[in-house]
Amino acid sequence: MLVMATGLLCLAQPQRPDVNYDESKVRPYTLPDPLVMTDGTRVTDARAWNQRRRPEILRLFEEHVYGRTPSVRLKVRHEVISMDAKGLGGKAVRKEVTLHFTEKKDGPKMDLIIFLPAGAKQPVPVFIGLNFNGNHAVHPDPAIKLSTQWMRPSPAGGVVDNRATEKSRGAAASRWPIEKVLARGYGMATAYYGDLDPDFDDGFQNGVHPLFYKPGQTQPAADEWGAIGAWAWGLSRALDYLEKDKAVDGRRVAVMGHSRLGKTALWAGAQDTRFALVISNNSGCGGAALSRRWFGETVARINTSFPHWFCANFSKYNDREGELPVDQHMLIALVAPRPVYVASAAEDLWADPRGEFLSAKHAAPVYRLLGTDGLGAEEMPGIHQPVMTRIGYHLRAGKHDVTDYDWERWMDFADRHLRSPR
Ligand code: GCU
Repeated sequence: MLVMATGLLCLAQPQRPDVNYDESKVRPYTLPDPLVMTDGTRVTDARAWNQRRRPEILRLFEEHVYGRTPSVRLKVRHEVISMDAKGLGGKAVRKEVTLHFTEKKDGPKMDLIIFLPAGAKQPVPVFIGLNFNGNHAVHPDPAIKLSTQWMRPSPAGGVVDNRATEKSRGAAASRWPIEKVLARGYGMATAYYGDLDPDFDDGFQNGVHPLFYKPGQTQPAADEWGAIGAWAWGLSRALDYLEKDKAVDGRRVAVMGHSRLGKTALWAGAQDTRFALVISNNSGCGGAALSRRWFGETVARINTSFPHWFCANFSKYNDREGELPVDQHMLIALVAPRPVYVASAAEDLWADPRGEFLSAKHAAPVYRLLGTDGLGAEEMPGIHQPVMTRIGYHLRAGKHDVTDYDWERWMDFADRHLRSPR
């Protein structure tokens, strides 16, 4: 009754009927061992992990879960659209850069916004994450370009006919404490996820997918990327830019994401080892939570509600999680030995906080094999007892959200693990 002890059940309101929120109803399951190859060979050293098992696990996630990301490199053109050395009342250097993915000005493109601490004497480490509501929603600053892309209706208002209006400026500011991040010496970069692929199921006719179709191809094959794959790809393109920006230390870029974008941050960090630190916030099913637990959101539910997020093959495992050749602890293991942080919220049972903790725990043998301390907790810690070993974890009080508490812990974690260049 560990879960009781953490206060999870006490705080939780069942979020949907017919969903399991009862720890005692979690059926026994066996996880695939990240340190045993598919052919049964045990992985006993870093070399075997890096050369054989890691690529094998990556392929399994590509084939069965997220789909393959195209390896073709597009020629991306960077256009600086604004630059203010005295942004945010003198606290920030604020830049807006458009990444054009085609030659066409109105072709698929991503607007990246970067805030760097004013007066920094050397290149700074940066947190990057995609946002849900447009760059103009992360801060009320009226100088930020208002997104003109398709947008989901926003509970905070300000979106009319699926387009942002002036009223949506700053609507998501509570999730992006930019001034606090700058004050601690970090930069912050973000882009709107819908620039890469609008978040609705349209058979992949919009966004970046069509840029990669072979002649005659009209949608991704069953083992090719879905929306999460495209969003993760966009994070890597943003990193390409950050690596070129002299004011940024490209070797110290931490990728973070919340919820579906937390799944995305993990998949980006798993594939692209240039991300020096990876943060998952409340990422749940298809993110940090173990699929085999069948607690909160399940594989069948996510594939039904959001058929465009994963690759088509993933739906083969609807109600058959036990047959998956991977589980989500292996996604976290793909980040090893780089620091990774899994953040849960106590009332967010839909995302299965305990399943998120267990993923971190079961990734730890890989971290230890690679010479790090792994995860400094055998049992799930209580509320607001962060674990700060190479795998970080916390359970925050409250709901599915991003709060200052989360950011403060991530910055503590980054202070510890990103202090000096790699
Ligand atoms: C839904 C979905 C989750 C997802 C979340 C979000 O709740 O079921 O898997 O993480 O949306 O992205 O906000």
